[in-house]
Amino acid sequence: MAQTLGLDPKGKAALVTGGNRGIGEAFVRALRDAGASKVYVGSRDPAAAAHLVAEDPARTVAIKLDVTKQDQIDAAAKACGDVRILVNNAGMFHNVTLMNAPDMSAARDEMEINYFGVVAMTRAFAPAMIAAGEGSVVNVLSAGGIAASPVMGGYSPSKFAARAASMCLRAELALKGVHVCALIVGSVDTRMATHVQGKKERPEDIAAVGLKAIRRAIDEVDTDVMAVEVRASLARDPKGLERQMAKLLGLSTISTGR
Ligand SMILES: NC(=O)c1ccc[n+]([C@@H]2O[C@H](COP(=O)([O-])OP(=O)(O)OC[C@H]3O[C@@H](n4cnc5c(N)ncnc54)[C@H](OP(=O)(O)O)[C@@H]3O)[C@@H](O)[C@H]2O)c1
Repeated sequence: MAQTLGLDPKGKAALVTGGNRGIGEAFVRALRDAGASKVYVGSRDPAAAAHLVAEDPARTVAIKLDVTKQDQIDAAAKACGDVRILVNNAGMFHNVTLMNAPDMSAARDEMEINYFGVVAMTRAFAPAMIAAGEGSVVNVLSAGGIAASPVMGGYSPSKFAARAASMCLRAELALKGVHVCALIVGSVDTRMATHVQGKKERPEDIAAVGLKAIRRAIDEVDTDVMAVEVRASLARDPKGLERQMAKLLGLSTISTGR
C-alpha cells in the first residue's frame, strides 16, 4: 500500500537544491541532525559547499546541480537514486519590477529557477521514490507566492506558479506514496534578503519547520510570523493587502475596483 504518512529522515538520503548557503545550508544541517544517512548538497559550484562537506564528510556529498540545466538534473537523479527527501530550495530574486526591468530576462530567469526548476527536479527524483514506496518533496516557497507583491514583479508570479505546481504534484504523487509540502516563507536573514529592513527569521528556524512538515506530511505550512500575517491579511482584507503591497512601490493611487 502507498505510504501516505510522514517520513522520518533518520536513515534516509536527502538532497537539497541551492544547499550551499542560506536556508538550503540550514536544511542540510537539520537533515543531518535528524539522522539522515546522507545529504547531497546541490550547488551550482560544488566548491561552495566544501564547508558543509568538511563538517561531516561521511554523510555529506556536494554535487554540481543547476536546476535550470536538464542534463545536470538527469545526471544527479542517476547518481543519487537513493534520495527519499528532496528539498527544492534553490531560488532567485532579481529585485526588479515587471515594468522597470529593461527586458524580460529577469522574469524569465525567476520562472526558470523558481518554477520550472521545482517541476523538473520533482519529475526527475520522484520515480525512484515511487519505486521505493516512500518519499517527501519539500518546496521552499514564499509569502510572495500567496499574495502578489509588485515589488517582486517576476519573483512573486514564479512562486505562485510553484505553489500551484505543488498542489498538482501533491495530488499526482500522493497516490504513489510520495508527499509534497509547500513551505510558505516570510522574511529570512540570508543573502537574498540583504535589502530587506525589519525582522528576519533565522534560516535554521525555517528548516526546523520544514523537518516537521516532512515528519508529519503537512501539505502547506507558514514558516514564520510574516507568512502567517500575510495569510491572515489575505483572508481578512485582500484589497487592503493589495493596496499595502502597492504602497511599497511608492504609488500614491491604485485602483480600488473589485
Ligand atoms: N530569504 C528570504 O527572505 C526568503 C523569503 C521567502 C522565500 N525564500 C526562498 O528560500 C529559498 C532559499 O533562499 P535563501 O533565502 O536561502 O537565498 P540565498 O541565500 O540567496 O540562496 C539561494 C540559493 O539558491 C541557489 N540557486 C540560485 N539559482 C540556482 C540555480 N539555477 N540552480 C541551483 N541553485 C541555484 C543559490 O546558489 P549560488 O550560491 O550558486 O548563487 C543559493 O544556494 C529560495 O527559494 C527563496 O525564494 C527566501
